[in-house]
Amino acid sequence: MSRWDVFQDKVIVITGAASGFGRILANKLSAEGAKLVLGDINAEPLARVAAELALPDNAVTATCDVAVELEVKALVEQACSAFGRVDIIVNNAGLGTSPRLLIDTTEEDMDINYAVNAKGVFFGIKHGIRQMLAQSPPGGIVLNVASMAGIGGAPTIGAYAAAKHAVVGLTKTAAYEYAAKGVRVNAICPFFSPTPLVTDAELGQKMDSLARGTPMKRLGDPEEMVEVMLMLMSPANSYMNGQAVAVDGGMSAI
Ligand SMILES: NC(=O)c1ccc[n+]([C@@H]2O[C@H](COP(=O)([O-])OP(=O)(O)OC[C@H]3O[C@@H](n4cnc5c(N)ncnc54)[C@H](O)[C@@H]3O)[C@@H](O)[C@H]2O)c1
Repeated sequence: MSRWDVFQDKVIVITGAASGFGRILANKLSAEGAKLVLGDINAEPLARVAAELALPDNAVTATCDVAVELEVKALVEQACSAFGRVDIIVNNAGLGTSPRLLIDTTEEDMDINYAVNAKGVFFGIKHGIRQMLAQSPPGGIVLNVASMAGIGGAPTIGAYAAAKHAVVGLTKTAAYEYAAKGVRVNAICPFFSPTPLVTDAELGQKMDSLARGTPMKRLGDPEEMVEVMLMLMSPANSYMNGQAVAVDGGMSAI
């Protein structure tokens, strides 16, 4: 028996499942017998993730750009046609843009951050919860992937920080609006963790100095972030609602 066997047979939609946290999460949930609906804008790496799952026959994949509302709606519909309901949606897809001070940040930086990191989460909340309210029995769990940049300032990534603050605002609003209908909504706020999002970016060169500046003198492993994602989205975590949970090795403690 595993402590995550609460996910067995749960129908779980994950956006941005082709890499990083989403990929690790999909693998862990598949090993627990979850029924997965995996979306990502990148079809080829998504197909590779599908092939590495413990239970590939219990998963469907779809190319899905979360910035396009109809594609997120279609992903939720795919969960219903394949498995009949949505128990959990993880709005995880996200991207970063080149680091710039605010006075150098472009309208394009703002637009892409808002389109993917904020609106993408909004679309997942909207269509995920619509389905959760319509199904029988109604209810479900939403986990949004925000960031420490969603609860504090983030020098040189201001556009990302603005969009991640929006994710926290959406999380708290959705939690309040649907609490009485059996839907819980929380957000995880990770500090930097070496996934391709950061290691492939300019920030990747600063990992060592970032780590030295933390209380634990190291960055969190992606596996450690996914462990908290599992806690937050667990059906056993039944009274936590509307929270933006920092996973930062103590960075925000002072
Ligand atoms: N790694 C970190 O340090 C860190 C810290 C805080 C928050 N986050 C957040 O965690 C989430 C996952 O990021 P990760 O670190 O695993 O990065 P990652 O780059 O490894 O994975 C992100 C995935 O999202 C997908 N994606 C990007 N744009 C998309 C779109 N428009 N539609 C659908 N899919 C899209 C990518 O193809 C990729 O597969 C993101 O929301 C990110 O902002 C990451």
